[in-house]
Amino acid sequence: MKQGLKIVTIGGGSSYTPELIEGFIKRYEELPVSELWLVDIEAGKEKLEIVGNLAKRMVEKAGLPIEIHLSMDRREALKNADFVTTQFRVGLLDARAKDERIPLKYGVIGQETNGPGGLFKGLRTIPVILGICKDMEELCPDAWLVNFTNPAGMVTEAVLRYSNIKKVVGLCNVPIGMRMGMAKALGVEADRVQVNFAGLNHMVFGLDVMLDGVSVKQKVIDSMADPDNAMSMKNIAGLSWDPDFIKGLGVIPCGYHRYYYKTSEMLQEELDAANEKGTRAEVVKKLENELFELYKDPNLDIKPPQLEKRGGAYYSDAACSLINSIYNDKRDIQPVNTRNNGAIASIPDDSAVEVNCVITKEGPKPISVGDLPVAVRGLVQQIKSFERVAAEAAVTGDYQTALVAMTINPLVPSDTIAKQILDEMLEAHKEHLPQFFTEIHA
Ligand code: G6P
Repeated sequence: MKQGLKIVTIGGGSSYTPELIEGFIKRYEELPVSELWLVDIEAGKEKLEIVGNLAKRMVEKAGLPIEIHLSMDRREALKNADFVTTQFRVGLLDARAKDERIPLKYGVIGQETNGPGGLFKGLRTIPVILGICKDMEELCPDAWLVNFTNPAGMVTEAVLRYSNIKKVVGLCNVPIGMRMGMAKALGVEADRVQVNFAGLNHMVFGLDVMLDGVSVKQKVIDSMADPDNAMSMKNIAGLSWDPDFIKGLGVIPCGYHRYYYKTSEMLQEELDAANEKGTRAEVVKKLENELFELYKDPNLDIKPPQLEKRGGAYYSDAACSLINSIYNDKRDIQPVNTRNNGAIASIPDDSAVEVNCVITKEGPKPISVGDLPVAVRGLVQQIKSFERVAAEAAVTGDYQTALVAMTINPLVPSDTIAKQILDEMLEAHKEHLPQFFTEIHA
């Protein structure tokens, strides 16, 4: 019987890693991690060392016997892992900045996980995650893959459909962020609030909200209608909702729904930001530099509060709670990305959805919601079609499939504009898209 757990984090040099370390430290008694392998590539070596050393100091301060290994050899690290977490960014923040800037030239939203940017992040990421899955099949076939790499919904979809890894869960901090925001609006502790989440990643709705088991959905909706309390994430401009719209909708949208329900205002906001302070990737680059400067301080041995300026703040709570509940068969309820299996009636059974699940040692068991309200169902289905076609394009490298994915995305207004954006982005990201540029010989 194994003594402790081996966790491998791919993209371990990420500025978010201290979140994860803090989460494992907090839960050590229940979740005895004995080895944590932080893995990165050559280009991330310096960051890996800086954040890895901070991780070592954090563990030492906590007085826990968690060994931290830093590695550039993914295959060596993966051997006999129990959990593999993924948090990498192919092409680093420069690629994200292109995803954000190029669409703007064509009057289209430029965003990390939505519209053309989300498509391209998927095209770059999916082949890499499928390579990791292949390695896992060989080196740690019993491990769970916990993916935070964006676009997390599309990536989970691709793993479910194009790999042999069945033990996969996609994770995001949006639901936990929404729950925290609602608790704040209600003026209560977050653990008294339970939300019935259903939809897709970055396209999730709160269908109902309970405070101590009693529905307070209307109260939450009323408070969101107040322009001073629009609820958003650090990375999404918190433009206020039209009060009649939000009350009429009757369910609670996530921050990312602004790109769909307030497209022109969000586009204007992005254009202004791009001209003034830079796109989000450009802002994040500066934040990252500041964070890594802090991480270098040999006296720092906790997660610095500045990390909370990032959109992914608190994601370790989602990640570590999930791993803890799988390991300890807790059977608690958490919103995660998993195979639908009929939980949402109008989404294919074999597709990834983000929905409340009972978390068991055999993984997440999705809780059926019946169907989504008709007013939001169509958009969710449309995004699911986009994700499926995009995943297919990422795997095949087929130009026409990529064009279809781009054109059916609701943020892209026409096939002609889709083609212009596609062509410019393919060229800009050529280095990270070999499947579109290499002749495949049978
Ligand atoms: C969120 C999302 C994450 C995303 C992050 C971006 O809240 O849920 O999927 O990666 O924000 O934050 P950043 O600080 O990098 O813009």
